[in-house]
Amino acid sequence: MNEESMVKEINIALLGLGTVGMGVYKLVQRRKNQLPKKLGCSVKVKRILVRNASKIRDGVDNDLITDSWDDILSDDSIDIVVEVMGGLEPAGTYIKQALDAGKNVVTANKDLIAVEGHELLVRAAEQKCDLLYEASVGGGIPVLRPLKQCLAGNAIDTVLGIVNGTTNYILTRMTEDGMEFDEALAKATDLGYAEADPTADIEGLDAGRKLAIMASIAFNSVVTFENVHTEGITRITSTDIRYADAMDCVIKLLAVGKEEDGQISVNVYPMLVPKNHPMASVNDSFNAVFVHGDAVDDAMFYGRGAGELPTASAVMGDIIDISRNLLQNCTGRVGCTCYRNLPIKPLGEVKNCYFFRLQVEDKPGTLASISSVFSQHNVSIKQVIQKPAKKHGSELVVVTDFVKEKDFTKTLEALKHMSMVYEISSVIRVYA
Ligand code: NAP
Ligand code: HSE
Repeated sequence: MNEESMVKEINIALLGLGTVGMGVYKLVQRRKNQLPKKLGCSVKVKRILVRNASKIRDGVDNDLITDSWDDILSDDSIDIVVEVMGGLEPAGTYIKQALDAGKNVVTANKDLIAVEGHELLVRAAEQKCDLLYEASVGGGIPVLRPLKQCLAGNAIDTVLGIVNGTTNYILTRMTEDGMEFDEALAKATDLGYAEADPTADIEGLDAGRKLAIMASIAFNSVVTFENVHTEGITRITSTDIRYADAMDCVIKLLAVGKEEDGQISVNVYPMLVPKNHPMASVNDSFNAVFVHGDAVDDAMFYGRGAGELPTASAVMGDIIDISRNLLQNCTGRVGCTCYRNLPIKPLGEVKNCYFFRLQVEDKPGTLASISSVFSQHNVSIKQVIQKPAKKHGSELVVVTDFVKEKDFTKTLEALKHMSMVYEISSVIRVYA
């Protein structure tokens, strides 16, 4: 490293100074002395865009704060715009304008990347700029760069994620402490894991956005959030969790991306996961991503999926990566890798095993009648548990072999019309 390169300074602008923005600001200060030695240049926060410029921000130089985007856009000395404000707009417009002005961009914004990622990457390539978004999936866990670069020599067929910390925390409390969903959600809210409006987490939307981003990279084909089928965890009960336990399984909200038969399936739903699968031991608010490639075989990435410094860690990695490219004059080196155009497999064609719990009439022949509905629809049964129900009748738990979603749905419809079936209490897919 020569003396000349030691003096160069990379200027960044933060768009947002909330949880993640503050983490990035602190980390830039914390690494201030090491970065020139590590990188051959220093990294300086030149400007910070916020909504409310009059708010007191402890530990932040007030001269850096602005509420005018134009202060940043028109400043030619800013090399990297770090968008950590969230939401589709105005974040999307600001990113496009930054790229058009030749500025490199780092973002943690999964909502935006899951919808407009491809268009933004094309725009970045036109300007020979970098657009990096490692923090948008798995917070502090390095997932996207490993998928795009380290595993580029593989044909990847599976990407499996526990990518929402809030729901993983809730399911862990329900499993380990016997809580019901509402109690576990209240605890997640108290601890600051769940947002004031937790819909995006508990309904699987947050995980769906992250799956779209991962699947696009893993399968080299554009996948957007609207392609992902999402179901949440609000209907999971402690009874389901106890049955899962008796079957040596735990219930997890899984983001399942697969390439099969020239199609991509991208689905988020709660699943029974065998306790001996590595994903079963990912607990509390931790995240993990499990990948299978034809060369690497199984690989798993695990860590903190959110929070101030874990997320800032991923943003900082992107800033450093772009700084290195700036020093070598080679920004825009790795752009969009979606060179295929694979179709999305309809949910009805996706095959899974199913666990379901029914309340049925307790009389001879009930089981035989129910079994015949399964065979009429060509659904093979793997396991049946029958117990006396709390009120009247029996509780029947059935686990099927692999069956197409559309055939299983027809079976369920037929069961609903049987007089001996009082209620279908739950239906959960099984990861097998
Ligand atoms: P946050 O705490 O709500 O902070 C948002 C910041 O952006 C605030 O400083 C706010 O300004 C500013 N802002 C919002 N709208 C603005 C506008 N129209 N103009 C100017 N400034 C605006 O959000 P966060 O939790 O840090 O999340 C930021 C991004 O990171 C989101 O895309 C999120 O999905 C992603 N992310 C977050 C985490 C996490 O753990 N929190 C993890 C991974 C990814 P004021 O301070 O003036 O209100
Ligand atoms: N709300 C997300 C979670 C964190 O609960 O994992 C931000 O991606």
